[in-house]
Amino acid sequence: PHALVAELLAVAEQVARAAGRLVQEGRPDVVGVAATKSSAVDVVTAMDLASEDLVRRTLARLRPDDAILGEEGGHVTGTSGVTWVVDPIDGTVNYLYGLPAYAVSVAAVVGEPTPATWTVLAGCVHAPATGETWTAGRGTGAYLDGRRLAVTPAPPLDRCLLGTGFGYVAERRRAQARVLAALLPQVRDVRRIGAAAIDLCQVATGRLDLYYERGLQPWDLAAAALVVAEAGGAVSGLRGRAAGPDMTVAGAPERVAQLVAMLEELDADAPDAPVAD
Ligand code: IPD
Repeated sequence: PHALVAELLAVAEQVARAAGRLVQEGRPDVVGVAATKSSAVDVVTAMDLASEDLVRRTLARLRPDDAILGEEGGHVTGTSGVTWVVDPIDGTVNYLYGLPAYAVSVAAVVGEPTPATWTVLAGCVHAPATGETWTAGRGTGAYLDGRRLAVTPAPPLDRCLLGTGFGYVAERRRAQARVLAALLPQVRDVRRIGAAAIDLCQVATGRLDLYYERGLQPWDLAAAALVVAEAGGAVSGLRGRAAGPDMTVAGAPERVAQLVAMLEELDADAPDAPVAD
């Protein structure tokens, strides 16, 4: 299995770097149209599609029998049992504004490609604007630019730097604001970096102590969750469930258990209430 993990990891890194180059070289076009926001959004969408297309074409050449699940192009089935889970640009709003926290995320999983059922074998999160590359292979550790990572021992909650993120829909944001208002007085401070895959990798790197977010998609999570786990961190959902769309909590294991209990108490996974006019 280690040979397969090593092969998949090499492919993940090669593909993420190639897509990162494309995305990075396409940024000046975004700046050019930033005056008219709607066309800027179109350029970002076009880059998202171009990045995923490059990933799909490269994977089809290197690993023709594998399946692919991508944010933009959906699920293409394969015969090998391996599925590539791809986010061609995580942190699209940062990309639009020229903030550096955006990344290409590429992971190889076996099993049904959902967070509750998959086993992630290899993952790479590459942030082309900063040049940072996180990699992890199942059973072989997590690395930032070749340096082995280990999550920092958990400080008490009131000394934790907590990362989070928000969905794009108002109903969801109202519920997320309520949860955040309850947590904010209890932690050192809060960061909203704007790219879930990078947030999770920052937990593995010791630049965030804890992270939680509701509403993550498989491609936000696949590669970075393995980076956290291989760095010795915990990645969990609420009420005994795996991390996934309902909730993802990551950090040092004992602090994750504490935050999970707090989020359960706050009903942070309750259905969104409609926003009244
Ligand atoms: C989003 C970012 C953001 C998170 C959202 C994601 P996208 O991904 O990761 O930080 O809060 O939940 O959807 O749309 O930029 O790929």
